[in-house]
Amino acid sequence: MNQTSVSLISVNDWVSQILGEAKHKSPAAQASAYAPSNIALSKYWGKRELSFNLPITGSLSISLAEHGTKTGLSVIDAPMHQVILNGKEVSANQSFSIKVSQWLDRVLPNVLKLRVDTHNTVPTAAGLASSASGFAALTLATNSLMGWQLPERQLSALARLGSGSASRSLWHGFVKWQAGEQANGSDSVAFPLEHQWPELRIGLLTVSSQKKAVSSREGMARTITTSALYNQWPQQAESDLATIETAIIAGDFETMAKTAEHNAMSMHATMAGAWPPLVYWQPDSLTQMQKVWQLREQGLPLYLTMDAGPNLKLLFEAKHQSDVEAAFPEVQVITPFG
Ligand code: DP6
Repeated sequence: MNQTSVSLISVNDWVSQILGEAKHKSPAAQASAYAPSNIALSKYWGKRELSFNLPITGSLSISLAEHGTKTGLSVIDAPMHQVILNGKEVSANQSFSIKVSQWLDRVLPNVLKLRVDTHNTVPTAAGLASSASGFAALTLATNSLMGWQLPERQLSALARLGSGSASRSLWHGFVKWQAGEQANGSDSVAFPLEHQWPELRIGLLTVSSQKKAVSSREGMARTITTSALYNQWPQQAESDLATIETAIIAGDFETMAKTAEHNAMSMHATMAGAWPPLVYWQPDSLTQMQKVWQLREQGLPLYLTMDAGPNLKLLFEAKHQSDVEAAFPEVQVITPFG
């Protein structure tokens, strides 16, 4: 799998092309935006191109309603951007600040510096995809501050430059990110699915909210280059995505949730087959997983999915919420179509 193929156009040239004259518009004094976090039901794990952050496969997610990121931007008279995360200033040499500043420097005129005040309502870097809501909120807030008025597909592509899963976080509900084929990623964008599922519930089981040791970016690269199990992944991911999309349209919970769990377990198997082994789980993750499987054997239609972290996300329908809460008193239940 070649994940380093060189694009014919640089990211900066592509950004200048899509922004055109808008890049030099005068900014408003301040702007803010909210974006929900999201959980992939069919996962993105693997990049086909690094500079544009292009995925090997498509993916499909559900957004987490009020769990996400609110970002305020204001213009400052300073030599560098200033990044505040949950009320605390993040120093310029930390990876979070660096990523945010790099993204801003790509899309803004050189002289323009911002104060970025960002609040997460999900734990940062605990596998709850806060980079997704973070870059989506930053993209929406910048669009508003700069008065770009860009079409949503271009906003999705700009958010993707910051973090792949951010391309899916511009909307609520089910969102599909198509892999695309273009070298500049102009067709590697997400869009919302029309279908709603008011009875769907997501349960967050937080095993740890510590920052993960290996970033998704690094984890994906390691999996692709060292895990023989990865060879089967792209095919499974595309087929799972199609099955999940069809099940969503049909309102078929069992097929949707079963395929999502199988997809997550298969992704984690490709990671475990990497060298050095990549295991994001902790002992408590496995304890909780076994509990889910036991409850399922006893007849409760309860499924799980996990991202690059130790936390579980449970999938179930409203009619089983009290059973799930009884089994997991600590669960945080989200109503994605609330
Ligand atoms: C396991 O979007 O965080 O959550 O593009 O390198 O920022 P980067 O990766 P990121 O990866 C998400 C991986 C995942 C699956 C998913 O959300 O689809």
